[in-house]
Amino acid sequence: MNSHPADQTSSPDSVRALVIGSAGYVGGELLRLLFAHPRIARVTAHSRSAAHKPIASVHRHLAPLGPQTFIGGDREELARRAQEHDVVFIALDHGESSAIMDALWAAQPRLIVDLSADYRVADPELYAAYYGPHPSPALLSSFVYGLADVVGTGLRGVRAIAAPGCFATAAQLALYPLRTLLAGVTPSLFAVTGSSGAGAKPRDTTHHPARAHNLFAYSVLKHRHEAEILQGWRAFTGRPDAHARLLAHSGPMVRGIYLTLHACLPQPLPAGAVHAALHAAYADRPLVQITDEPPELTHAILTSQALLFGAQSRDGREVHVTIAIDNLLKGAAGQAVQSMNLAIGWPEACGLAALGAYPC
Ligand SMILES: NC(=O)c1ccc[n+]([C@@H]2O[C@H](COP(=O)([O-])OP(=O)(O)OC[C@H]3O[C@@H](n4cnc5c(N)ncnc54)[C@H](OP(=O)(O)O)[C@@H]3O)[C@@H](O)[C@H]2O)c1
Repeated sequence: MNSHPADQTSSPDSVRALVIGSAGYVGGELLRLLFAHPRIARVTAHSRSAAHKPIASVHRHLAPLGPQTFIGGDREELARRAQEHDVVFIALDHGESSAIMDALWAAQPRLIVDLSADYRVADPELYAAYYGPHPSPALLSSFVYGLADVVGTGLRGVRAIAAPGCFATAAQLALYPLRTLLAGVTPSLFAVTGSSGAGAKPRDTTHHPARAHNLFAYSVLKHRHEAEILQGWRAFTGRPDAHARLLAHSGPMVRGIYLTLHACLPQPLPAGAVHAALHAAYADRPLVQITDEPPELTHAILTSQALLFGAQSRDGREVHVTIAIDNLLKGAAGQAVQSMNLAIGWPEACGLAALGAYPC
């Protein structure tokens, strides 16, 4: 990693934030959170598709924020803007972040948080197995994987964070507490995502008639988020050959990911082992709740919380963990802001305390 002039250990009262790719769904959620964040002094929204238009013309729900417009500009302009801001969030499509990262890196903002997949997988071979050759591997090792509820204060002072994918967040938050109990076992991760996981640009599979009352598997046995999940599971267990399988499904809701981990064990677990493991893993995490009943998806929607429930069979040979998250918040913008808070040294739930809404 290059040297950095800013003092990364001091904790400023406030920072200025630049959001790149802010016309998309994740960009819109970042703007909503950052404009309301008590320690963000200035928010600048960059967009190619909506340059110079009012933010409220794209994100109509943000109209109460006032007349602020998106800025536009090319790589060089973005680099100049990055110099004027402390934190740069990038909510561009896969492959687009890496196309501008050299210029942003050279601008040396205090912190870059990339929400695309470009810097999530540290091993270029594992990355290539799911995405093809990496377009810009030189900066891969400069990014820290921002699974905020696991890395926690380990993010303090880092310069660049790769925010995890939405499925990958749910999967790894379910896997992490079980790293000892499931060593040597291949868990199945059955997951259903809402249509906003596919972004704002319409696609055949997100068209309302195809999606509204439907449920289907996709990316069967090859979902790209498995690369991150394997990276995490191997690190958690310390086993380079550890495996886990993501079973991805598209569901009829707009927001949310509901994921159930299931595994069969060769040896029985002691009674209460799963419950105890969940509580131990997340004992002091303000944005993870361990529930006594399987969570309902709607209880996680519009929050940056992960709701986790664990159980084991009577004979101790089966493990079941269910997790519910909002894909656009805990699975994207909320976790990115949580990571920023941790990197800067603020309370990690700062600006993320909003309660959910029910029914929704
Ligand atoms: N959706 C999720 O649940 C989720 C969760 C975790 C991570 N992510 C990741 O976050 C990144 C952004 O995802 P997203 O869901 O926000 O994707 P998206 O809504 O499709 O937006 C992606 C980009 O497309 C541009 N855009 C948006 N609407 C447009 C339109 N109508 N016409 C032309 N361009 C438009 C925006 O850039 P400009 O503003 O520059 O035009 C935006 O950055 C992706 O890398 C994704 O993998 C998404």
